[in-house]
Amino acid sequence: MGVMRIGHVSLKVMDVAAALHHYQNVLGMKKTMEDQDGNVYLKCWDEWDKYSLILTPSDQAGLNHVAYKVERDEELDALRARIEAYGIGTEMVAAGTLPDTGRMLRFHLPSGHEMLLYAKKEYVGTEVGTVNPDPWPDGLKGAGAHWLDHCLLMCELNPETGVNKVAENTEFMKSCLDFFLGEQVLVGPGGAIQAATWMSRTTTPHDIAFVGGSRNGLHHIAFFLDSWHDVLKAADVMAKNKVRIEVAPTRHGITRGETIYFFDPSGNRNETFAGLGYLAQPDRPVTTWSEDNLWNGIFFHTGEAVPSFTEVYT
Ligand SMILES: [Fe+2]
Repeated sequence: MGVMRIGHVSLKVMDVAAALHHYQNVLGMKKTMEDQDGNVYLKCWDEWDKYSLILTPSDQAGLNHVAYKVERDEELDALRARIEAYGIGTEMVAAGTLPDTGRMLRFHLPSGHEMLLYAKKEYVGTEVGTVNPDPWPDGLKGAGAHWLDHCLLMCELNPETGVNKVAENTEFMKSCLDFFLGEQVLVGPGGAIQAATWMSRTTTPHDIAFVGGSRNGLHHIAFFLDSWHDVLKAADVMAKNKVRIEVAPTRHGITRGETIYFFDPSGNRNETFAGLGYLAQPDRPVTTWSEDNLWNGIFFHTGEAVPSFTEVYT
């Protein structure tokens, strides 16, 4: 089956204690371990693997890598052959390089972002268990996010020099990892430039997204909530915790998701995202957003530009 879903992200943070407070008390994640180097590992309540977020001490914010989980370990060899045949170098990293995780296939997307694929990570289960489970556990903190849902990577786009890492990443994800394109933004004369894409492996509107910018980076990582009401409550939690909210609760045109954008204490952008939007399927026609409707695609109600949203990222 290949890639199943996003597995974890490894984030650089400048103050681990402040970041830990944020991801535990605002998002509602739980710390599952800490290693000798001071890296902290967390999971959401509805995830069964040991961690979906690694916080690493650094002097700057940003993304170390994003990892996707594949169904079977032997598939890593087949995926490696496909990626190498595509012309991208790979490295098989030994089991245990990341704690409680099997061997990993490491490579860089055409944009330069580091991506890892793995099949095994320690199963720790959920607090509600697997026999006659309650719908949610007692004692949830903050927004009580269910799971890490997706990430959005900023990719260099410069029509003057012909650089378009959005298009290159999209082609790579299709050709090598069997992601399908759900939505795209086309800009420029005749809509010839693919400036942003949303791609899936699951039935949700996106498991990864790429947006063009002046340089490569991390735009945001997103956590799943059940409903619009949960989005509202998450904003209450953020206000109570003095979290810097960039975009208060609203809806995307693209993906139809209900959303809030905010920042962790180091300046990494987070999103809480609700609603499955629509049933994403490989045979679904691709939805296209044109340049003149771009901001309705991003923030459907106002359709107004939020400059920081495209200019600020780690
Ligand atoms: Fe998002």
